[in-house]
Amino acid sequence: MVALRIRPINDAEIEEGASIVAHKVDDQMVVILDPSEDPDDILRANRSREKTFVFDVAFDHTATQDDVYVATTKNLIEGVLSGYNATVFAYGPTGAGKTYTMLGIDSEPGIYVRTLNDLFNSIEASSDHMAYDVSMSYLEIYNEVIRDLLNPASGFLDLREDAKGGIQIAGITEVSTNNAEEIMELLTKGNRERTQEPTAANKTSSRSHAVLQVTVKQKSRIKNINEEVRIGRLFMIDLAGTERASQTQNRGKRMKEGAHINRSLLALGNCINALSEKGSNRVHYVNYRDSKLTRLLKDSLGGNSRTVMIAHISPASSYFEESRTTLIYADRAKNIKTRVKRNLLNVSYHIAQYTSIIADLRKEIERLKAKIDEQGQNQMKKGEKANIRDIQGASYEFVFFKYM
Ligand SMILES: Nc1ncnc2c1ncn2[C@@H]1O[C@H](COP(=O)(O)OP(=O)(O)O)[C@@H](O)[C@H]1O
Ligand SMILES: [Mg+2]
Repeated sequence: MVALRIRPINDAEIEEGASIVAHKVDDQMVVILDPSEDPDDILRANRSREKTFVFDVAFDHTATQDDVYVATTKNLIEGVLSGYNATVFAYGPTGAGKTYTMLGIDSEPGIYVRTLNDLFNSIEASSDHMAYDVSMSYLEIYNEVIRDLLNPASGFLDLREDAKGGIQIAGITEVSTNNAEEIMELLTKGNRERTQEPTAANKTSSRSHAVLQVTVKQKSRIKNINEEVRIGRLFMIDLAGTERASQTQNRGKRMKEGAHINRSLLALGNCINALSEKGSNRVHYVNYRDSKLTRLLKDSLGGNSRTVMIAHISPASSYFEESRTTLIYADRAKNIKTRVKRNLLNVSYHIAQYTSIIADLRKEIERLKAKIDEQGQNQMKKGEKANIRDIQGASYEFVFFKYM
């Protein structure tokens, strides 16, 4: 699933004289206008300046945090509780609203807290016959190293493969609280620990990927029937800003960071693409080992996982280039869905064809009936009644033999 969110234009953008170039057209469609071309040439402009994109769901400034949560993430919870994996990514350039969507602000909490709330409510509702154990950890991947955002003092952490090939983060803090306020506090505090640096574009740039990992272990309370433990894992990821190093005129150290970030994002894109090809006959090699992010997400992306990407853009003309590249990347990430849709489309084309074939055949039947009637009348006119009786006799015989 790929969703797109256009955040509201802000005061700074209005002060800069930016205009709004990204609009939501309907629940799925978004249009972006190139502000650089001649707006006076209306006839040509309307053809070339607009670019339309279709997503599974689109949001603009009128969407609430709950709207976004309900349409993208809420229905992943049931799966996680029954042992499936799910992943939600926030994608887009710095300042486009990724952290707002995922973490949110105290008065408008985002997907993290809403998801955990619903998760705990569902658990409470079914806790009579099931025992659950929920734990979460919050980490960042910065420059291909992992840091614990709930305990930054612990330094760099390693990814380890356990005996079953599952990926674990050695020494990460695991928290198990079901108090929403406490969670929001922990995550907000953790978010402040993220590596953020001012760039030439004079924004506070998030050059790290923040990963909230929620693990749900489930066991039946009824003894001797089933000792099986189901483990569902949910990743909620606030990805690093996707702006290119050249766009922010970074030099030296930051160029290297940019390369690492691109490496993780590129690896992620490659994995998603390869996975989306899995249904076809070709076998694609999924290169999880290319980056820390994809190694961590290996189990989640590779198997029984549902994946949601929420791409973010600013509506402002000053963001046009970043918005355009974000829309194109998100459009490509639709691969899996696109294929499904395409098949459905083919099916409906077939049905449309059948309808017209049936209409043609009906017409042909009418035509032949009319012709038979016409011929019958002609024969009646000639007074050949005996022949008709013979014909009827023959057909009775035919029917008789048929049922013998
Ligand atoms: N949908 C929104 N509604 C209101 N304010 C928003 C929205 N999205 C982003 N903002 C505000 O815009 C600014 C940049 O958003 P942020 O989430 O930090 O961007 P990112 O994490 O992509 O760099 C923040 O001040 C944030 O509060
Ligand atoms: Mg952010």
